[in-house]
Amino acid sequence: MRKFKVVSLFTGAGGLDLGFVRAGFDIVFASELESSACETYRLNFGKLHDISYLKEGDVNHFWDEIPKHPDILIGGPPCQSYSTAGPRTALQSENGRLFLKTIQNLQKIQPRFFILENVQGILTFKDEKDPNKPDQPDNPLPILLNAIKEVGYEVEYRLFDLSEFGIPQRRKRVIFFGKKIGDPTVLKRLFPKKIFAQAQTVDELFKSIPGNLTGSESITPNVTQKIFGPILAPGENLETLKKLSEVELHKRLAEKGLMNDPKIPRENGKIRIPQRGQDVQRLNPAKIAPTMSFNGGTNVHWHPWLDRAISVREAATIQTFPYDFEFLGKNMEEKYHQIANAVPPMFAEVLARSLLTILTEGK
Ligand SMILES: C[S@@+](CC[C@H](N)C(=O)[O-])C[C@H]1O[C@@H](n2cnc3c(N)ncnc32)[C@H](O)[C@@H]1O
Repeated sequence: MRKFKVVSLFTGAGGLDLGFVRAGFDIVFASELESSACETYRLNFGKLHDISYLKEGDVNHFWDEIPKHPDILIGGPPCQSYSTAGPRTALQSENGRLFLKTIQNLQKIQPRFFILENVQGILTFKDEKDPNKPDQPDNPLPILLNAIKEVGYEVEYRLFDLSEFGIPQRRKRVIFFGKKIGDPTVLKRLFPKKIFAQAQTVDELFKSIPGNLTGSESITPNVTQKIFGPILAPGENLETLKKLSEVELHKRLAEKGLMNDPKIPRENGKIRIPQRGQDVQRLNPAKIAPTMSFNGGTNVHWHPWLDRAISVREAATIQTFPYDFEFLGKNMEEKYHQIANAVPPMFAEVLARSLLTILTEGK
């Protein structure tokens, strides 16, 4: 059987690609801006096959080099300007417009199908509590859907809760599944059915990681995280601590031997919990992990029972990367960033296998 061909854009460390490779697809082109993510990609995918197809740099330099007529084009265009945690500039920003650029280039590349992944925020744009607030960007979704039609494609999109597919993380992502207008495939059939495999809790997952791999590398917390991380109970973050009494805070700090730490921030003699923006949250071992996200170290996930940030390997395991997938980068931040950005390979494989069924039926 011939291998189906994939063009991968905004490839990152290759979470989405790994799922397609595991399902038996052949990547013929990949492109990524960040050199650390490219290094990670080369290291891991280079063990499997020749990866000279990977182009490092701005995708805008490569549109003309992309092989034509692949079976599928996959990618996760940058999501910061669509995220509810980001600036919400949508198509007004260069980064946000990369989604539109990708759609416009479908006309040139002519894949039979495409899968584009993005954050939930792309679906709901205006401030729901205050839709008339001035200076809000136009809702990008109708513009994107219209652009898809204009280049000769049809699309269906759906919001997935990845934990419903056995991914041990409450991560919600939108998948756009597209095909050429006129292709007889029923788009809805491309969406995988929920797999009611129970996603593992943090406790189950972390205890399954071999001991020699668990804490080998983790980010150095900032002063706030170092002081308040240890006194968090499972599931708590700085917001929770703000609701505690001064007596309770003293008790918790004393239990951890931190009461006399001169770095404890104080105001008028009282402990002051810093404002949001440099948060730390202790994972709840009894629950499925929250979305792995990374904003330059400002929102650190704290280990469920140890007093440190979760390690690169623990974050990667929550994202379903295999233990032998290694992350490269100049610093720890670059590694966490690649992991948080990725489509969990296990979910990517579910998507890839769903498409494979349709592609092989047609042969
Ligand atoms: C959401 S991540 C994609 C993650 C990937 N799908 C995965 O599963 O690992 C988006 C990627 O787009 C890359 N990127 C942003 N702007 C780019 C550009 N102009 N050209 C190429 N890549 C770009 C970022 O560096 C980032 O790695």
